Amino acid sequence: MSNPTIDLLMSHRSIRRFEDRPLPDGVLETLIRCGQQASTSSNLQAYTAIHVTDPERKKRLAELCADQAQIHQSAAFLAFCADLHRDWMANQMHEAERFDGDYVEALMIATVDVALMMQNVAIAAEAMGLGICMIGAMRNNPKAVGALLGLPSHVVAVAGFCIGYPAQAPEVKPRLPLDAVLHREHYLDDEKHRAILADYDQTMVEFYASQGMHTGDQRWTKVMAERTGQFHAREELDEFLTAQGFQLRR
Ligand SMILES: Cc1cc2nc3c(=O)[nH]c(=O)nc-3n(C[C@H](O)[C@H](O)[C@H](O)COP(=O)(O)O)c2cc1C
Repeated sequence: MSNPTIDLLMSHRSIRRFEDRPLPDGVLETLIRCGQQASTSSNLQAYTAIHVTDPERKKRLAELCADQAQIHQSAAFLAFCADLHRDWMANQMHEAERFDGDYVEALMIATVDVALMMQNVAIAAEAMGLGICMIGAMRNNPKAVGALLGLPSHVVAVAGFCIGYPAQAPEVKPRLPLDAVLHREHYLDDEKHRAILADYDQTMVEFYASQGMHTGDQRWTKVMAERTGQFHAREELDEFLTAQGFQLRR
């Protein structure tokens, strides 16, 4: 099945080198409007994008995000925040009985909302011939990022977002086989799952070899095994979430 929207979605790849060329007037606003049009839980619209334009502030923010080159090169760099602050304000305005911001549900709602918004912005940007790279390293230093952006209660920066004109044309990165992510009737048993992962390991080894990247063990399971053991490196995020009012009550 092929149509222009599906072709666009299937051609996504992150861009990490950008031309030194600004976005035309109005483009950013159009992209954010597209982001706003994503589905949103109960119409809460629990997100905010903060565009950092001042060169010194952008440089500082980039440094807090592992100093990644694509941030410096981007025509626009935004911090996408999960944001229940407006909903907290609405709660105060109407002296509502409860504000359940300390439930896991609150953070899930806001995180899903902002993720959907980001993806809509990504698709809209790519439809205009722009490239994007999301930046999870925005969560490396949540306290310093929060201070730089002046984040009030119930707001946390979930990811950075680079937008610009691509100065590279990377290959599309292969995804897991469909059977790994589309299960029928019930969750796939581990044996079948493992066989699919072994196939994908091979696909990724071949993909990186075809890109001239022969360094290290590129099997997907091996790379992910190491990646998922690194979440503790962002333990400051737990403290920051608590300070912001997302206590994640247990
Ligand atoms: C929330 C999120 C955070 C990400 N953070 C980074 C990042 O900090 N630096 C980076 O170079 N890429 C980052 N990426 C891009 C992913 O590495 C990339 O999407 C993934 O490897 C798949 O490659 P593709 O987007 O080219 O298809 C991030 C993607 C997401 C969704």
